Amino acid sequence: MRILEAFRAAYGDEPTGVWHAPGRVNLIGEHTDYNDGLVLPFAVPWGVTAAVSPRADGVVRLASLQAPGEEQAVEDLDLARGWARYPAGVVWALREAGHRVGGADIMIDGDVPRGAGLSSSAALEVAVAVALDDLYGLALPRIELAKIAQRAENAFVGMPCGIMDQAASALGEEGRALFLDCRTLGSRTVPLDLAANGLRLLIINTGVYHELADGQYAKRRQDCENAAKRLGVPALRDVTDLAGALARLSGDERRRTQHVVTENHRVEALVGLLRAGAVREIGALLNASHLSLRDQFEVSCPELDTAVEAAVRGGARGARMTGGGFGGSAIALVPEERLGAVRDEVLRAYQARGWAAPTFLEAVPAPGARRLR
Ligand code: GLA
Repeated sequence: MRILEAFRAAYGDEPTGVWHAPGRVNLIGEHTDYNDGLVLPFAVPWGVTAAVSPRADGVVRLASLQAPGEEQAVEDLDLARGWARYPAGVVWALREAGHRVGGADIMIDGDVPRGAGLSSSAALEVAVAVALDDLYGLALPRIELAKIAQRAENAFVGMPCGIMDQAASALGEEGRALFLDCRTLGSRTVPLDLAANGLRLLIINTGVYHELADGQYAKRRQDCENAAKRLGVPALRDVTDLAGALARLSGDERRRTQHVVTENHRVEALVGLLRAGAVREIGALLNASHLSLRDQFEVSCPELDTAVEAAVRGGARGARMTGGGFGGSAIALVPEERLGAVRDEVLRAYQARGWAAPTFLEAVPAPGARRLR
């Protein structure tokens, strides 16, 4: 393991342990998590590995094979800079929550494809959270570690994300998707056996990430909170009479509400199909989710729309953008025999627009965070 060599080279000793946490794709339930809604992500085979030893002096030393020359040693966590704010934030959030967590020597390695929107930051946070949980004997439930990781990102890094990515990384299971209720934080896993159904889940990484993404994410969250307030409900999750709600709203708030309420129903419908073993039938829900994200939630972009449309033209049973939007990846549910045709169609569409070729990955549900040694 190259991370062991890197750890030895940086800190002159063996790490006490090595932990891994995966990234995620979201099958459906987009922009519902911060509306107390439903999501159905799964952990992917790529993620972040952390080799860690505890330190008695409270100092946190941080280094990453993906950030050469940016090693840091901080006693005051707030002095952590750049990539190191994610792991430093986890130490901060654990201490904030009252857990007795001392210092640590941390070495990071990762293989989440860059810019793919597969939650490399959540993987980084969760890898460090499970490591510190083990090393300091906290024995926190996985969902608590996910909440700690989210708190680090919200309050220390400054990105107002929901709980989905961290939960998927902490709770994912091989061969299964994670059905999570973001209000109760109750979850169940649902079988997602693509191969047995002659299907593949193709990730189409657009390779773009539009700059406005972070600001727009915060704005969408605000739109949703404003709409809920106007409707007099705690969260858009609580809207039961959609027609009645829409009649009382206008503009952005109306469109956001339309998306969130229908998306929650799509998650439930998709879970129902999976439980029935009808994996081949979920495509229509993926397509509907994409249109809603494009037209009502307005978080897609030409690169994602083009990938989705071309995938469906090429024979995908359904496709949608996945994650926050404004770039990153789309997913397509593709019958095995159509894989080549779908790829070709997407590549052709990108070439016709003069865009750099997207990259393709095949995702199967992988295990969630775990200790490797
Ligand atoms: C990002 C956030 C998640 C979630 C998705 C949209 O990935 O980190 O919490 O809100 O966007 O579904």
